[in-house]
Amino acid sequence: MKEKLEEIRLEAESELKKAPDEVSLQNVKSKFLGRKGVITEYLKRMPEVPEAERPEMGRLINQVKSFIENLFEKRLEEIKEEKKTSMLLKERVDITLPGRGIRIGGKHPITQVMEEIISIFERMGFEVVEGPEVELDYYNFEALNIPKDHPARDMQDTFYISDEIVLRTHTSPVQIRVMEKQKPPVKVIAPGKVYRCDSDVSHTPMFHQVEGLLVDEHVTFADLKGVLTEFAKLMFGANIGVRFRPSFFPFTEPSAEVDIECVICGGKGCRVCKNSGWLEILGCGMVDPEVFKSVNYDPERYTGFAFGMGVERIAMLKFGINDIRLFFENDIRFLRQFS
Ligand code: FA5
Ligand code: MG
Repeated sequence: MKEKLEEIRLEAESELKKAPDEVSLQNVKSKFLGRKGVITEYLKRMPEVPEAERPEMGRLINQVKSFIENLFEKRLEEIKEEKKTSMLLKERVDITLPGRGIRIGGKHPITQVMEEIISIFERMGFEVVEGPEVELDYYNFEALNIPKDHPARDMQDTFYISDEIVLRTHTSPVQIRVMEKQKPPVKVIAPGKVYRCDSDVSHTPMFHQVEGLLVDEHVTFADLKGVLTEFAKLMFGANIGVRFRPSFFPFTEPSAEVDIECVICGGKGCRVCKNSGWLEILGCGMVDPEVFKSVNYDPERYTGFAFGMGVERIAMLKFGINDIRLFFENDIRFLRQFS
């Protein structure tokens, strides 16, 4: 009996040590200690053992039992540890691999040019103001000396919200809003988005303008020319070709448009400048006395100049972009070149 128990103990020991995983270990345990296990059978047969030997037998069986239990716990720990180690090896992270990197965005080229324009005029003492993009017909047209049936309304293809409300077609309505609130001297620029039903290599339905307005006593066309020529030099360099070309706007008299030498073809003529060698960047002129009347400024005492420039056109010239629509396609390969 004693020898038999020792055999069982050795057998259990070797099987427990060999068990490769938790399930087979559990099976080995119940083979010996389970309800129908070998050791349990022995305990059941205790009554067959002579009374004198029973205590000694009981002690031996319990010894084997706790030996198996201890070894089971120990092996269980080992198996768990092995499992963890193998998982760590399998899921090892190669920390020497380079990371994915964080791409830093950049400012949109139109934003960059807009900021540069604003900074040039701020240095000249202009103050920045803003107006609404959804505008009353009155400010966009009427107060700018463009009555309802005036042919000049055809110059700008307007998006109408209703009979009296439009998407502003230019930043000029901000002139009126400023003069309604403020007495001369006035020296402001008004940057922002404007909308026109228009699309080709140099026109988009939404684009940006920067309006300028200076009103005081004794302001002349020479002041206008000086300010805008200085602007062109600061923006494009001292040697850039600039020309003032007579033009017409209902809200300025006299009026002009300013062209910059087309940098895309070097003045030779291309599809962007429509073979003229020049690209129009702004309209300007001396504020029409009719406009002063609509805001109760005395046209006998005050004179002023105004201008409205196309930011996309300036950006095209600055960066040599031959199609204005590229600015709004948001192709990351295009935009990345400006960051
Ligand atoms: C005007 O919008 C006048 N309000 C400018 C003005 C202001 C004149 C103050 C006198 C006094 P014009 O329609 O020409 O003018 O537009 C001004 C500039 O905006 C153009 O020179 C051009 O650079 C730009 N521009 C006009 N239409 C578009 C368009 N569809 N897409 C991109 N840029 C445009
Ligand atoms: Mg024009």
